[in-house]
Amino acid sequence: VDSAFLEQIEAIVGPQGLVTDPIEAQSYLADWRGAYSGVARLIVRPSNTEQVSAVMTLCARAGIAVVPQGGNTGLCGGSIPDSSGDQVVMSLTRMNRVIEVDPLNDTITVEAGVVLQRIQDVALEVNRFFPLSLGAQGSCTVGGNLATNAGGTAVLRYGNMRELTLGIEVVLPDGRIWNGLRGLRKDNTGYDLKQLFIGAEGTLGIITAAVLRLYPQPKAVATAWVAIPSTHAAIDLIRLVQSQCGDRLTGFELMSRVSVEFVAQHIPGCKDVFANAYPWYVLMELSDTRADTNLSEMLEQSLAQAFETGHVLDAVVAASKAQVNALWALREGISEAQNHEGPSLKHDISIAVTQIPDFIATVGQRLAQIVPDLRLVTYGHVGDGNLHYNVSKPIELDSDRFKARADELTEAIYQTTAEFNGSISAEHGLGVAKRDAARRYKAPLELELMQQLKRAIDPNGLMNPGKVL
Ligand code: FAD
Ligand code: MLT
Ligand code: ZN
Repeated sequence: VDSAFLEQIEAIVGPQGLVTDPIEAQSYLADWRGAYSGVARLIVRPSNTEQVSAVMTLCARAGIAVVPQGGNTGLCGGSIPDSSGDQVVMSLTRMNRVIEVDPLNDTITVEAGVVLQRIQDVALEVNRFFPLSLGAQGSCTVGGNLATNAGGTAVLRYGNMRELTLGIEVVLPDGRIWNGLRGLRKDNTGYDLKQLFIGAEGTLGIITAAVLRLYPQPKAVATAWVAIPSTHAAIDLIRLVQSQCGDRLTGFELMSRVSVEFVAQHIPGCKDVFANAYPWYVLMELSDTRADTNLSEMLEQSLAQAFETGHVLDAVVAASKAQVNALWALREGISEAQNHEGPSLKHDISIAVTQIPDFIATVGQRLAQIVPDLRLVTYGHVGDGNLHYNVSKPIELDSDRFKARADELTEAIYQTTAEFNGSISAEHGLGVAKRDAARRYKAPLELELMQQLKRAIDPNGLMNPGKVL
């Protein structure tokens, strides 16, 4: 590293603001799956917005590219520098202050490095609820949640990160600070600029803080683990439960048999719920703000009706908080469990809910023709039409041979998704993983407009280059 540049950065962030230990540096330079790794000129950890601004100004003048990073839990390589050694990684994790909680305005204002779970906890302390919920919530940050427009398991009821955000503060590529930290539900004064930065995966600026929506705290919750005969049954079941329980249906997750087997095998403490094996499972959750609502009874009634019509084969409604946690652990463990089964391909597609059964049947046939005996770890937030169509290698197939067919398999999945008018990324984003595929599957006019926006805000291409576009 050019020592004058290093000295200037250190003068801004202080010695604690630099990661110099090579071992410590590794956790900033590779993702948790070991799927992406890179080299950095410098890893910088500013502790406030002014420091972010000063670092960005310096990098802009020197023509040095910056890769923003939060908890580094992303699944598309967006937070990892390239292999040139030229890029600066900027980690926001020291910026972890909760700036303000306003229970009457139902808002919380936080710095970008605050871990998601902490926001949930702080909300509960003031008898409120922050609904974004995902497997990585103990380590992902609000900056990363915003930059990827994270989804998760409560989108069905509360929406994605976009819907949960009222205002943001951003440091632009040239170092200027845009303070858009407004806690307003209504603001029609022209373009909604915050939405440009949400979901931009760090390619337009550094998000340094946000004002998020809070909700009334659910006081009653009912959770069921349900065995179903087919994916058709899952779709019928969502609509049945919604028609009977309305907005109380907060989560509806689908899992293939293989997904559940992997978790039971690899995640300590997780075991299968039923003695028999079933082809598909659903994890369903109802919630209500009234503690005296008998949600278990409501859920049981819906399930009994679905049992009569053959949509449900077996079901259990959790009887204790420990059982609720055990059921969610079985769902949330899939990502990690799949890592133990050799190389896997992760996909994160969305299609109209009604098309899911046909999609799964069609794509399954096509993949079997490319590589027989794949283990299809198909699961996801099916209530939102979002499938994690993940593929693990056949037991008998050598890892390298499987990897050699990876592009072909992924292409078949994306091609089928396109035929079903779906999206190749529902919630994880493009990063580097889906950047090239997006060129093929997004309309040329959409890509052109995205390029124009990128040039307008980051004319020198210094914000997370090589990601998304
Ligand atoms: P990082 O991984 O550090 O970064 C992600 C992207 O955001 C990168 O492009 C990075 O450059 C950019 N970025 C980070 N911080 C900033 C900032 N302050 N300003 C500008 N850009 C920034 N995702 C879902 O949507 N739904 C799920 O259900 C879900 N489940 C998951 C389960 C597991 C077990 C794991 C490991 C991941 C899961 N993810 C899920 C993916 C991931 O956790 C989320 O995308 C999360 O929002 C990323 O946050 P992060 O702080 O780790 O961001
Ligand atoms: C999940 O919902 O578990 C993640 O978004 C999917 C994944 O890790 O592939
Ligand atoms: Zn997900």
